[in-house]
Amino acid sequence: SICYALPLIVSFVLIEEELHPSYWNNKAKQALYTAMKVQPNVHQAKNTIFFLGDGMGVPTVTAARILKGQLEGKSGEETSLVMDTFPHLALSKTYNVDQQMPDSAATATAYLCGVKANYGTLGVSASTPRNNCSATSGNEVTSVLQRAKEAGKSVGIVTTTRVQHASPAASYAHTPDRGWYSDSDLTSEAVENGCHDIAYQLVHNVEINVILGGGRQYMFPKNMQDPEYPSSKGNRNDGINLVVDWLQNKNNAKYVWNKSKLRAAVSCLGLFEPKDCRFELDRDPTMDPSLTEMMEKAIKILSKNPKGFFLFVEDNSLAEDGKHFTTAVYGNGPGYQLANGSRPDMNATISSHKDYRQQAPVPLGSETHGIEDVAIYAKGPMSHLFHGVQEQNYIAHVIAYAACLEPYNDCKLSLSSRAGSVHPSLLLLLMGLLLLSLYSV
Ligand SMILES: *[C@@H]1O[C@H](CO)[C@@H](O)[C@H](O)[C@H]1NC(C)=O
Ligand SMILES: *[C@@H]1O[C@H](CO)[C@@H](O)[C@H](O)[C@H]1NC(C)=O
Ligand SMILES: *[C@@H]1O[C@H](CO)[C@@H](O)[C@H](O)[C@H]1NC(C)=O
Ligand SMILES: *[C@@H]1O[C@H](CO)[C@@H](O)[C@H](O)[C@H]1NC(C)=O
Repeated sequence: SICYALPLIVSFVLIEEELHPSYWNNKAKQALYTAMKVQPNVHQAKNTIFFLGDGMGVPTVTAARILKGQLEGKSGEETSLVMDTFPHLALSKTYNVDQQMPDSAATATAYLCGVKANYGTLGVSASTPRNNCSATSGNEVTSVLQRAKEAGKSVGIVTTTRVQHASPAASYAHTPDRGWYSDSDLTSEAVENGCHDIAYQLVHNVEINVILGGGRQYMFPKNMQDPEYPSSKGNRNDGINLVVDWLQNKNNAKYVWNKSKLRAAVSCLGLFEPKDCRFELDRDPTMDPSLTEMMEKAIKILSKNPKGFFLFVEDNSLAEDGKHFTTAVYGNGPGYQLANGSRPDMNATISSHKDYRQQAPVPLGSETHGIEDVAIYAKGPMSHLFHGVQEQNYIAHVIAYAACLEPYNDCKLSLSSRAGSVHPSLLLLLMGLLLLSLYSV
């Protein structure tokens, strides 16, 4: 669990050997020899696992590292996260075509489809202005998930948000507005010009083998009662039951809305909440799987395909939990407070409450994305192509090249002869710390 706040003032434990130059010289020498041995892996990536930590910048990663160390009883700074050991890193510029401060929809379009887009738009080029349905047709751009599917791989998305949320949705939807979750969200212009909502596209655009997350209410007709919360209903005006649509023409496919049946599924649509999944601290572990459990299940199903797989994983709850790290500073957000003209006092008791909001100098309802570059951590085949400072859409191109997908299907890279399902994978981590939970359990 990460429901701890870092102490405001960390009392350093002075370790005697750290006082001597030889300690630091030897440590650095070891790191130097390790670096000299790094060889680029020039094989084809059979599998790709792409982790996205939405809204998480480098300060949050630093805080997570210190926290991990402190939970192990050390002072913390010297600890390594699993991601710290990834050999290749790059910085990605995040701006959208029409806006300096980006949003998840246009950034996901860049890193999943390889093309930069307008703020708030999904799976379309910047020729589509936000909210304009009639400007969508002909401007669609295709994600690496869809290209992986076309190359015969299995594909999946796992998220703690609704599965129609902007980041996973860029892998399958084309829409001028990220808010068009169900048909009841469409504008009259969108209905007139025949645009489909994101939930409809989830089921009808690309056949996705594993879909795990939240977002039940966008799949069911208006009057249909939610199985878990009787007061909650579906919200589709068109009367379509998209889960029934998804199950059609599939062998061995299973829809689940709770954890109990997740284990038995083969090809799987799991929707565990009406909207977003609950934050890890509020999750009911008997009903809803954790992100780690969802990922394990997804990898188990997807790795049965001898041609490999592509898996996209998002974890907003860790980003939200990042607010508890008192050493991470946010530029704006709901934590803005003044008491008698100055910042209110705080202490470890206050900051460790799960509803504590990180103090911020600019008042806003929720944090916006920053405009600063974000880090990409990479490991596995062709991961050395992540270097330097890149535009965000470069990411999709590296994935496509490493896995020999459109437009690089003549890449002539050979598959590694190494056995094992996870080892030959290209592992990508974009501004997140999900591997902390994946590998520390
Ligand atoms: C929407 O896009 C169409 C086609 O590009 C264009 O003709 C129209 O003026 C746009 N509408 C608005 C409100 O921008
Ligand atoms: C989980 O879902 C199944 C139907 O898929 C249902 O039969 C079962 O009662 C549910 N479990 C709980 C604990 O609600
Ligand atoms: C603000 O100042 C007044 C007067 O000094 C004091 O009584 C009050 O408790 C202060 N409020 C807060 C929130 O610190
Ligand atoms: C922190 O402040 C709160 C409110 O003033 C107080 O109740 C609590 O005892 C304090 N905790 C510590 C560890 O000082």
